[in-house]
Amino acid sequence: MDYKRLLITAALPYANGPVHIGHLAGCYLPADIYVRYQRAQKREVKFVCGSDEHGVPITIRAMKEGTTPQAVVDKYHALIKESFHQMGISFDIYSRTSSTTHRETSQAFFKKMFDDGAFEVKESEQYYDEEKQMFLADRYIVGTCPVCSNDKAYGDQCEKCGSTLSPEQLINPHSTLSNSKPVKRKTQHWYFPLNKYEDWLKEWIVEGKKDTWKANVYGQCKSWIDAGLQPRAMTRDSSWGVPVPLPNAEGKVLYVWFDAPIGYISATKELTPMWSDYWQKDDTKLVHFIGKDNIVFHCIIFPAMLKSHGGYVLPENVPANEFLNIEGEKVSTSRNWAVWVHEYLSDFPDQQDLLRYVLCANAPETKDNDFTWKDFQTRVNSELSGNLGNFVNRAFVMMHKLCSGRVPTFHKDATNEIDLALVADIKEAKEKIETAIESYKFRDALSEIMAISAKGNKYLQVNEPWNLVKTLDTNPGNQKRIDNCIHLSLQLCANLAIFINPFLPFTAQKMCGMMKVVERMLDWENGGRVDLLKVNYPLREPQILFKKIEDSEVADQVEKLKARSQQVMETKAAIIPNKQAEPSVEKAMIQFDDFAKIDLRTGIILRAEKVEKADKLLKLSVKLGEEERTIVSGIALHFSPEEIIGKHVVVVANLAPRKMRGIESQGMILMSENEDGKLVFVSPTEPVAPGSEVR
Ligand code: MF3
Ligand code: ZN
Repeated sequence: MDYKRLLITAALPYANGPVHIGHLAGCYLPADIYVRYQRAQKREVKFVCGSDEHGVPITIRAMKEGTTPQAVVDKYHALIKESFHQMGISFDIYSRTSSTTHRETSQAFFKKMFDDGAFEVKESEQYYDEEKQMFLADRYIVGTCPVCSNDKAYGDQCEKCGSTLSPEQLINPHSTLSNSKPVKRKTQHWYFPLNKYEDWLKEWIVEGKKDTWKANVYGQCKSWIDAGLQPRAMTRDSSWGVPVPLPNAEGKVLYVWFDAPIGYISATKELTPMWSDYWQKDDTKLVHFIGKDNIVFHCIIFPAMLKSHGGYVLPENVPANEFLNIEGEKVSTSRNWAVWVHEYLSDFPDQQDLLRYVLCANAPETKDNDFTWKDFQTRVNSELSGNLGNFVNRAFVMMHKLCSGRVPTFHKDATNEIDLALVADIKEAKEKIETAIESYKFRDALSEIMAISAKGNKYLQVNEPWNLVKTLDTNPGNQKRIDNCIHLSLQLCANLAIFINPFLPFTAQKMCGMMKVVERMLDWENGGRVDLLKVNYPLREPQILFKKIEDSEVADQVEKLKARSQQVMETKAAIIPNKQAEPSVEKAMIQFDDFAKIDLRTGIILRAEKVEKADKLLKLSVKLGEEERTIVSGIALHFSPEEIIGKHVVVVANLAPRKMRGIESQGMILMSENEDGKLVFVSPTEPVAPGSEVR
């Protein structure tokens, strides 16, 4: 299919906090590279994004900050928008889902589906907070887990033992908003029967996208579809969101994952009166750039909505990236373990391209990757500066020294094979970079660019114009070789500017300045040409393209990261005494006899393995004296099997056996939780023989 126009979207970030470099690497940077490349190809392309301003995370943030949801989204929308702008993420529009256009668009979308009978109405009983006068989303309810007695289990899940829960199962449930005891109330919601779209999704994705979608994306979709789809509520009881456009729907809003993706449509409407060409004509290529946690929404739910509504194009591709860890640890906003974009910008002013380079060179395209400041330094100093910056600088310096600051003639009669090889390499590089970008392999594309730059350095090295100039007296013919060498090197500089423009736009601009060419030279069709700079044309002095990163800067950044997260932990630790007071009040007094009934013993974990299809469970073999027990524990999200083998633990040895996922668990391991929410084993501080009694 030949496309006439492209519509590129990047996931709408929640306006409940600033953006970090993981967000950039995950979808905004790849989307921007792709779009800049398409613009350089002179294709018709629109790049839309905006803030996702509804949903539970926003209301939670408002409560934390003691303010209103509107104030939260206003603050973060402005901050996020500015960060993107500064980083050169070149959206054609950065809108927001609290806009009027969006409210009208998403309501009309819902109404059309409703009128077509696309929804099923279901009545259910849900918990209601009488004090706050609102229905409680599952996450807002905490109580004691019926499985492991963790008293901080959520209404949808116990994070300690991993059980999936419904609020009804919690013992002693209470509202996190008011701490009051919630009551049951009847409520009704509109469900979208995704199950009816199974056959269509199988055909469209499982059969149709096998060869074109990335393996990580295709795999996730397939396993969702294979597992069978359920009807999903598309409305919520809340005062924050797009009101459900039906009579008698007071207090109901659209589910945030219903309205947010429609935000792409609203943003396009705000951008151009031609919006319907982009959304409703078959010859549009729609591409969603997202992070991996958004896959199901963009590949299954939203397309099913578009299909149900009718008249809209479907995404041609959804190139989702995996996650970027920081210094070996998962990004955690609650621990403040993140590199915030606005902080980077103030610590490294005007150095956007350094970050863009490193995030692309190390992008988590196929698996989770790690960002470290040390690696940042190495890549900037040895790759960007040592290779690309160095080549451009040498070519310019030599032109000024040996060719009086002008582009020298290219002498056909003095051409040799080394020249011809370089010319061919430049042409070939263009093809390779193009193919890589078109197939969303931005890392590969960038490394092709670095490879052709390295060839430039090699070319200078082999030709040695700085030595040729010394022998001109005896060998006047060498001037032609000098000219050819500098001429081609400068043409390669022009090509490098074209190639890196989608990736490092600030650098490409600087290079245009040095070469005194207008931006039009950066058109992609000029790539591969070696006649871009006119003979005899005077060029400017070289500028240093990339600043080097000092050891002290690396140390400062690592220090900053650690200090900030340390501070968060200390603040949390300071409020822990209050938290810990709760259970002792809630649990009734027991007699010694009650305690004596519990048989606690020390043990050693001999083996550990994941339990199939239960991502939170580990199956452990624990040595208790002569005996070996199988214990199933819900700690798989906190520990890998390898890291806990050999651990000394305390086991409740006489707990009645219980089956979990078909495996009989013969006991329970005692755990505690540190101020950071991380589980820690309770274990003897000195070696004790396994099986010893704990009293
Ligand atoms: N706000 C969501 C997130 O950050 C992404 C929404 S993408 C959209 O995970 F398509 F729904 F807009
Ligand atoms: Zn539990």
